[in-house]
Order: sequence, then C-alpha cells, then structure tokens
Amino acid sequence: MAEAEFEPQIVAFTCNWCSYAAADLAGTSRVSYPPNVRLIRVMCSGMVDPIFVLKSFEKGFDGVLIAGCHIGDCHYISGNIKAEERIGKLKSLIHTLGLGDERLRLEWISTAEGGKFAETIKELVGQLKQLGPSPLRKEVRA
Ligand code: FES
Repeated sequence: MAEAEFEPQIVAFTCNWCSYAAADLAGTSRVSYPPNVRLIRVMCSGMVDPIFVLKSFEKGFDGVLIAGCHIGDCHYISGNIKAEERIGKLKSLIHTLGLGDERLRLEWISTAEGGKFAETIKELVGQLKQLGPSPLRKEVRA
C-alpha cells in the first residue's frame, strides 16, 4: 500500500485590516487554495509575539506564515516594520535550532489581493512538501 503523501500543516497569523480580508476575498471569489492552513486573525502583524511562532512549531506545525499590510499601509504606523525586524531574528533562531528558516514566511498582502493570498499558501505548501515534515511534528489537533 502506498504511503500517504505528506500534507504540511500551516498556521497563518493574518492582519485584520488586510491579509485576513484577502483570505476572505479569496474565499468569496472562489479562488481556491490548499486547506492546509489555519488562520489566526490578529490586529496587526506587529502584534505577533515571537513566542506565538515558536509555540506553533513546538505544537507541530510545519510552517508559519505572518501576513500583514504593505509597508506604509499599517494601521498602527510601524507594526509591520517591527514584524519584519522580528521575523529576521526569528528566522536566524529557527535556523540555529535546525528547523529550517524556510518554514517561516512573512508576506505583505492587501485587502484586494485575494489571489496573492491563495498563491502564497500554494507556494508555501509546495515548499514545505519539498522540505518534509518538521522535526517537531506531532499530530496537529483541532
Ligand atoms: S495593521 Fe496590518 S500590518 Fe499593521
């Protein structure tokens, strides 16, 4: 019997003002994307505490996406700039831990970019399939 293909599990922290709405737009526009992602709505990408990302990996998720407003469009002025700085440091830490920094992605996706949201998820799923399961992978429960 053939072994089931690895399906990566992703958690996406999406900004309320842009990328969460973009995910919604993708859904209402019937732009499909893989069902491998669980969305967590946050008020700003700058409010994603690094511990949330590390906890996500500890819980067994294979990838983490943080999606926020484009630079210059953050509703809290510089939240996305802070997110960008944090993600850079987190990527370095994740690399040092041996998880592979490609498992963490930051993307700017506006309200009108439902297609970009769907493409980002497709790309990340493809990339994670190539990387294989996270070394910390457990069964991710609902
Ligand atoms: S409000 Fe969207 S990234 Fe800050």
